[in-house]
Amino acid sequence: MSFRRNKELIEMGDTVTLYINPNNMHQVEVKEKIKNKKGELVDNVFQTTYGALKVITLIGTKYGSKVDLSRGWAYVLQPTPELWTLTLPHRTQIIYTPDISMIIYLLDLVPGSVVIETGTGSGSLSHSLIRTIRPNGHLHTFDFHEQRALLAEEEFKSHGIAEFVTVRHRDVCTEGFGEELENTADAVFLDLPHPWLTIDFAVKALKLKGGKLCSFSPCIEQVQRTCTKLSSVGFIGIETIECLQRELTVHQRTLPVLDLNSCKTKGNEPTKKFLDPVKLTTVTHPSSTPGHTGFITVATLPPQFVRICDET
Ligand SMILES: C[S@@+](CC[C@H](N)C(=O)[O-])C[C@H]1O[C@@H](n2cnc3c(N)ncnc32)[C@H](O)[C@@H]1O
Repeated sequence: MSFRRNKELIEMGDTVTLYINPNNMHQVEVKEKIKNKKGELVDNVFQTTYGALKVITLIGTKYGSKVDLSRGWAYVLQPTPELWTLTLPHRTQIIYTPDISMIIYLLDLVPGSVVIETGTGSGSLSHSLIRTIRPNGHLHTFDFHEQRALLAEEEFKSHGIAEFVTVRHRDVCTEGFGEELENTADAVFLDLPHPWLTIDFAVKALKLKGGKLCSFSPCIEQVQRTCTKLSSVGFIGIETIECLQRELTVHQRTLPVLDLNSCKTKGNEPTKKFLDPVKLTTVTHPSSTPGHTGFITVATLPPQFVRICDET
């Protein structure tokens, strides 16, 4: 239940982020017993590279505090959608936080927004969407893979956020989003191999006052087909962007300083002298940058009366 509200103490049923270091984090569900490989109920002991943790001992511990492992220590953190994205069980490729933040911004999402998402996949994006639109908004998420839809639904329940999301098992390319969602959505988000096949259904699902559509695709050919389809059904402001992070490191370096007075040519031989080295603040670029994830295409569907006027 720990995704729902800020809490001080860990309780039974919480999902806790066990933070060992930035590259070594885990999600732990606080329950007394778990099933082992043979299907027998055993004590819930979580193994890490720094030893074991008897999970039930976390109950009553303050979030943010340091806990002992059998060969070291870790911090117990209250999970956020960002920490969940870094630690969730991968059932599919997932969308990561830099792209997620751009998607939420481009879709103009606010508390109260009604959003359609497909496919649900591993629920990485869904957790951030739910945090943005609750308490009055709703997420309708679709996946044609039954097991993925079921597992995502179970996670939303165990994280205490099930009331803000409806999970449906459906092929949206052939069946669309359903009559019940016609003219209800403020935004539609697509992470599918064939997003252009759902765009007619998205037009029906968006509110009469219009709305936003965003599609995430790894390949430029998918983007081309999506953009062509979007403009053919009346979307405007179609833009595609790619989020590439480039980190700069500011640090101190001791550098030799050239004595400019010494730079004279003596015959054909230039002379150079250096002064005492000085400590300078410099900036370096990384030797490699994180690579391509996907292209984000965003478009606006104008209000319906504008669409009708344009057609006549
Ligand atoms: C890349 S994953 C989505 C990952 C998700 N955005 C996340 O961040 O965890 C794509 C999902 O779309 C689903 N999918 C593909 N085609 C579909 C269709 N026609 N209808 C519904 N779901 C579909 C797949 O089963 C898969 O789970």
